[in-house]
Amino acid sequence: MPGTSKNLGGVALVGSGSATPNQRLTNDQLSLRVDTNDAWIRSRTGIGARRVIGSDETLVELSQRAGSLAIQRAGWDPTSVDLVLLATSTPDDLFGSAPKVQALLGAKQAVAFDLTAACSGFLFALVTASQFLRTGAMRRALVIGADQLSRWVDWDDRRSCVLFGDGAGAIALESTSLVQNGLLDFQLKTDGSRGDCLNLPQLNATSPLVAGATYQQGGFSPIQMNGQEVYKFAVREVPAILETLLKANQVDPESLDWLLLHQANQRILDAVADRFEVSYQKVLSNLADYGNTSAATIPLMLDEAVQDGRVQPGHLIASSGFGAGLSWGAALFRWQGAT
Ligand code: ACO
Repeated sequence: MPGTSKNLGGVALVGSGSATPNQRLTNDQLSLRVDTNDAWIRSRTGIGARRVIGSDETLVELSQRAGSLAIQRAGWDPTSVDLVLLATSTPDDLFGSAPKVQALLGAKQAVAFDLTAACSGFLFALVTASQFLRTGAMRRALVIGADQLSRWVDWDDRRSCVLFGDGAGAIALESTSLVQNGLLDFQLKTDGSRGDCLNLPQLNATSPLVAGATYQQGGFSPIQMNGQEVYKFAVREVPAILETLLKANQVDPESLDWLLLHQANQRILDAVADRFEVSYQKVLSNLADYGNTSAATIPLMLDEAVQDGRVQPGHLIASSGFGAGLSWGAALFRWQGAT
């Protein structure tokens, strides 16, 4: 898939926000439920704790909190937002949760819809929203990545339940002139033929409807994952797509300020850093606190690093998302922040 056309306008990343559920679950607490332990989880994944959404919280509410912060930090009025794009695989409502987020944000003029691409969702949504901005069709977009995989994980499957957590992150995007363009290039990929190693499939419980006809009541099985296959996919494809992107833009890995990867596993992050000979200090990571929050990891991490001052206006960032589908992608951008 081609990158951004040079004939269009630009897009700037001008604000960020994030929100996580109140409940924090440590590895030690988890070991009271399944046969695991803190040392195993930390050494294999880098994860120390994760947030788990409570019965009094919703994905819509987390998304709204993250989105409101991004709008506020961008210095926008909510009514000036043209698009609310919610990347999630775990909406509160299968018809889409973005419209409820739009209403709570007070973004009355915005069109709002969900986009599903699992852990690649935020990156795919960032690129999707940027197309509306770069063509001039829209001026301001709020891209939210949010997931609540805790509702869909099998909490008795130690091979997968230790990995995931819940959260939301949001980025405010604004159309600019081409010279001020901050989203420099991207690559997106899908290979559905390899998708069976990571699924959240429908349950097929067939019941009689009327004589001669049946129906299947909707429902989903918990997450099914072949961890080793997913790991091999990630350490092969993520460095490859980043390498293609950087070469196409004549960017030396050393000139990057940050590598911002989907937070799936610290060993995957380290493997990518090794491949590019990028210092581990330049690889943003908050896996220890949040685990894998699926579509939320990239904006949650970016917001944390913007708020604590690691990411500064003008910094050059290479980002990659990857996950179920199989899907993966990479983007090269400069953080701008509010001006
Ligand atoms: N605690 C203790 N022991 C465990 C645990 C656990 N939580 N999980 C597995 N084990 C055991 C296994 O049973 C196995 O024991 P055995 O040899 O007696 O059978 C042993 O540890 C090794 O198991 P492996 O599956 O080979 O462990 P591996 O080193 O591959 O690590 C892991 C597993 C962490 C899941 C790794 O494969 C991985 O990170 N894969 C990528 C998963 C991922 O990132 N998924 C999401 C990405 S996409 C997205 O974000 C949706």
